[in-house]
This record gives sequence, structure tokens and C-alpha cells, in this order.
Amino acid sequence: MKSKHSYSEIEKQAVYRVIAERRDMRHFVKAPLEEGVLTRLLTVANQAPSVGLMQPWRFIRITDANLKNAIKGLVETERNTTAELLDSRKSEFLKLKVEGISECAELIVVALPDGREKHIFGRRTMPDMDLASVSCAIQNMWLAARAEGIGLGWVSLFDPIELATLLNMPEDSRPVAILCIGHVEKFYEKPMLVEQNWCQPAEIEEFLFENSWPTK
Ligand SMILES: Cc1cc2nc3c(=O)[nH]c(=O)nc-3n(C[C@H](O)[C@H](O)[C@H](O)COP(=O)(O)O)c2cc1C
Repeated sequence: MKSKHSYSEIEKQAVYRVIAERRDMRHFVKAPLEEGVLTRLLTVANQAPSVGLMQPWRFIRITDANLKNAIKGLVETERNTTAELLDSRKSEFLKLKVEGISECAELIVVALPDGREKHIFGRRTMPDMDLASVSCAIQNMWLAARAEGIGLGWVSLFDPIELATLLNMPEDSRPVAILCIGHVEKFYEKPMLVEQNWCQPAEIEEFLFENSWPTK
């Protein structure tokens, strides 16, 4: 039965299209965002679902050039450490672009706040539902950015303690993402890791089980 609450065909197509065409972007062109875009992206982030409606997202807009360089340095250090652990794939990994910190128009660090322990609704057995909630907020930004024609890249290659120190974050808060946001020349047609032959994604059938985890 078709739902009477469904959006129109054209609106539905737009939703599915933005999900399919959202990309993690690491190549940016140096140009400022149009007035109002960043506010819209932050507004949709704050409309994300969150466990117990705790809204466990904080955003630090990085505008200081020295700080930007220091953040880039943290990512570079972690990129090299990761490369060392990849043994035979080290040089292949080092060829991948994993961030666009210097080129993007806006750099936003997304963090979990301190004081999260008082939120037990939905987190007693699974405290990491706060992180799941922040991820929903970032996904909202990602989709809205794509609809705006703006690229967004999620960078997680950094030492969270060092980044927290750099940003004077309170103890027990935790940075979870460095977001690079900006204009792009073009969006990658496929995930960049696929375009660069780093890996291939599997289809949903491989991840869908019925009633039980499958036996091998
Ligand atoms: C939690 C998370 C962390 C990520 N961290 C990085 C990162 O540090 N550097 C990077 O280049 N891409 C990062 N990505 C992007 C993924 O590599 C990308 O989402 C994946 O390859 C699929 O590509 P697509 O997002 O374009 O569909 C991250 C994505 C997620 C969801």
C-alpha cells in the first residue's frame, strides 16, 4: 500500500539523488562559500536525531590560519603513522589524498561535549550512542552540502587528545571529525577510494541477514 504521507515523485527523486550523489570530497577550489550556506548546514546538523534528544554535537569553526596549519600537521602525522602500519600498501596509501584542509573554504571541528555521563536515556548499555548521534548530524550536513553543490570531507586521521589540547577542549569532551567544506571543481562520480582502486564496495545483499547471523 502506498503511504498517503509520501512526498511527491519529484521530491522523492531529489532525496534519493542526493543520497546517491553525496561524496566525501578532498579536492576543493579556493573560493568562499555564499552567504548563509554555512548557517544552513549547521542548522540541519542541529535537526539530526539524537539519543534522548541530548544533541551531543559541538562545532568549532577554525578561522585562524596558524591553527589551521597546526590541525593539518596533526593529520599529516597520523597519515604517516597509518601508512607505516599498512606495510605492503604503504606507498599506495600515501598517494591517496585524505584531506583538503588548506584549500577548503570552511574548516569545522565537530566534537562530543563534556558532561555526557548525565545522559543515560538510551545510553546506559550503549554509551557510544552519543557518537552515533553526532554522525547523524554530520550526515545531515553532508547531504545538504551536496544539494547546495558544496563539497564536504570528513577527516578522522588525527590524535583526538592532541586536537582537544590544541582547541582548549574540556576534559571528557572528544573531537570526532574535522570537516572540510567548500566549492569543488566537480564531484567524484564514485567514492574516491573506488576511483583510485583502493577498494570496492559490496552490494546490500551481502550485508542483509534474516533471523540470525549466517553460519559460514
Ligand atoms: C567516520 C568517517 C571517517 C572518515 N575519515 C576519513 C578521513 O580521515 N580521510 C578521508 O579521506 N576520508 C574519510 N572518510 C570518507 C570515506 O573514506 C568515504 O566516506 C568512503 O570512502 C565512501 O566514499 P563516499 O563518502 O564518497 O561515498 C571518512 C568517512 C567516515 C564516515
